[in-house]
Amino acid sequence: MTAPSLSLVARRGGRLAGSIAVPGDKSISHRALMLGALAVGETRVSGLLEGEDVLRTAAAMRALGASVARAETAEGPLWTLHGRGVGGLREPDEVLDMGNAGTGARLLMGLLATHPLFAVLTGDASLRRRPMARVTEPLGRFGATFHGRAGGRLPIAVLGTGQALPVRYRLPVASAQVKSALLLAGLNTAGTTTVIEPVPTRDHSERMLTHFGAHLDAVSDDDGAPGIALAGQPELVGADVVVPGDPSSAAFPLVAGLLVPDSRLTVRGVGLNPRRTGLLATLAEMGADLEATNQRTEGGEPVADLTVTHGPLKGIDVPADRAPDMIDEYPILAVAAAGAEGTTRMRGLGELRVKESDRLGGTARGLAACGVAVEIEGDDLIVHGSGRPPAGGATIAVELDHRMAMAFLVLGLIADSPVAIDDGRAIDTSFPGFVDLMTGLGATISEVP
Ligand code: S3P
Repeated sequence: MTAPSLSLVARRGGRLAGSIAVPGDKSISHRALMLGALAVGETRVSGLLEGEDVLRTAAAMRALGASVARAETAEGPLWTLHGRGVGGLREPDEVLDMGNAGTGARLLMGLLATHPLFAVLTGDASLRRRPMARVTEPLGRFGATFHGRAGGRLPIAVLGTGQALPVRYRLPVASAQVKSALLLAGLNTAGTTTVIEPVPTRDHSERMLTHFGAHLDAVSDDDGAPGIALAGQPELVGADVVVPGDPSSAAFPLVAGLLVPDSRLTVRGVGLNPRRTGLLATLAEMGADLEATNQRTEGGEPVADLTVTHGPLKGIDVPADRAPDMIDEYPILAVAAAGAEGTTRMRGLGELRVKESDRLGGTARGLAACGVAVEIEGDDLIVHGSGRPPAGGATIAVELDHRMAMAFLVLGLIADSPVAIDDGRAIDTSFPGFVDLMTGLGATISEVP
């Protein structure tokens, strides 16, 4: 991000109303570009998220030799890829800069690990702080070598292998990124790569690998823990991918509609993969008036239109085992909890400390600055909602974190005094057009001059 910082402020105004579509799913968009770059023949992707994170992955796929083109059509942008075949990526000339994108960087390391090439990955200040050993350690077992900074941080140099050994790995943390990095490495590996996943995480990689012609089997470990086995060196064939709206982006207008008095709004075409719907289940338990209509399947993923109507929310206990199904939604859930009546305890949020920023600490600090009673106990976040609008009147430092930026702007829509964020540029990584879409619904969000 080279542009000067962009301070934004949100203030209380009238009701929110209307029907919108949010940009495409970030997780699915990264995967569509990566598999399109490996597949033989043409891959056409519609609904791709054209956010910074995904554009970095598109640039990386070009640097690795795939052809990636964008065209405007009557139905919106269409991305067309011609891939290199499994094992066919070529050595990049330049450092691969993945910007803010943890998913892009970690999945890419999986791809590079089993290609005989040398590459260097870097990213922005946020990504350079994030732990990478969780992928480089298991990827090393395929035969790849990684050299990075202290603590396994970017920049990291990768020396991939052309003679990868298949790996069987049990995930120590619930992470779809780690699982996906291993499955992508397993593509150019003779034999079967197995990932055991004691706690299930989003399965977009599995769905899309199957869609492109790979063979995956459900397996279980000795103790019954579920896993997935990928048969190596499949012929991936170019495919059409329709990317649904990102439920993690839809979360912001949906919670805003629940919190702002008299609101009723619809977000159309939201992906409802069962491993992504933890927030909707939680909001329903809090008493939200939430309706899913027009349920359908698009590109192998369940999709629906979601309508919310303002009403009172109550505090609840959110179990730790739900965290993987809503891992990116805790900042906005905490905002919903701040507008609710009663205490919400969100359990088992240790992973939030290593997201684009420390979201556990940052959410607590930001809410406290806005007059909300909040505590951290171990890995739990506890928000005491008073049933009254929070005081607001603070400027929140969002530390290059798109979801923190959007969550606190939503808080500003109900607070007694405006809430500002120091820098909204990161919003473009996942939700370009967020401010326009929200103001179109009636929200008052503007630049701080
Ligand atoms: C993602 C997995 C999650 C999530 C991230 C996207 C993915 O990360 O937070 O935004 O696309 O696989 P972890 O795997 O680190 O939990």
